[in-house]
Amino acid sequence: MWRIPYRGGGADKIRGLDFGCGIGRITALMCEFGIDAHGIDISENAISEAKNVLELAGFNTSIVSIYDGQNIPFNNNFFDFTISEGVIDSLPFSLAKKLLKEIERVTKKFFYFSLISSSSVSLFNSNSYQKDGEFNGEFVVQEKHEFGTIQSFYNMKKIKELIKETKFQIVWGELIENHDIFTKYSHGRYHLVLEKIT
Ligand SMILES: C[S@@+](CC[C@H](N)C(=O)[O-])C[C@H]1O[C@@H](n2cnc3c(N)ncnc32)[C@H](O)[C@@H]1O
Repeated sequence: MWRIPYRGGGADKIRGLDFGCGIGRITALMCEFGIDAHGIDISENAISEAKNVLELAGFNTSIVSIYDGQNIPFNNNFFDFTISEGVIDSLPFSLAKKLLKEIERVTKKFFYFSLISSSSVSLFNSNSYQKDGEFNGEFVVQEKHEFGTIQSFYNMKKIKELIKETKFQIVWGELIENHDIFTKYSHGRYHLVLEKIT
């Protein structure tokens, strides 16, 4: 099995991308692990906050940057691996597919990400979706905390469609679901590791 070689510190460090890094919590964690970390996001506010977080933690603030949301500003195979938490399922499916190809282009081997599961649709107040636990479409969130953002729900069929046109294969995956015994609402997330097969 191919493993990311541990190359220690210095110029030879393992290089990782935090895609959709937000305020940089995973970017900072990657730095803690001695990884040559980079983070990109479309939000100016998020990147500004990420720079504060990195500065407070004593890390280089220039490793996070804004980009255009479609074209990842790094060369082919620049990163040993990419991580993306809570981003791909906030994108329209067509853009998510395009960005998966971009992530594949800049990533040498592994990509970890997570996706909200179709059963979680019960969490949202949109009545028309409430009863259908197998909903795997997308809608614009009306709830206060994420108002106006896209929520795209995934089942295995949609996950396979997402990665179909890339060289990625699923090499590890878990679906972690919580069921509230009082409200009966479910919340589930797929956690996936893809490997680029060349
Ligand atoms: C729920 S936050 C997650 C942030 C971070 N990954 C974390 O776990 O803390 C989603 C992030 O995705 C970013 N985002 C939205 N569209 C994006 C795109 N096309 N490319 C990269 N990031 C994007 C948002 O600006 C936001 O910071």
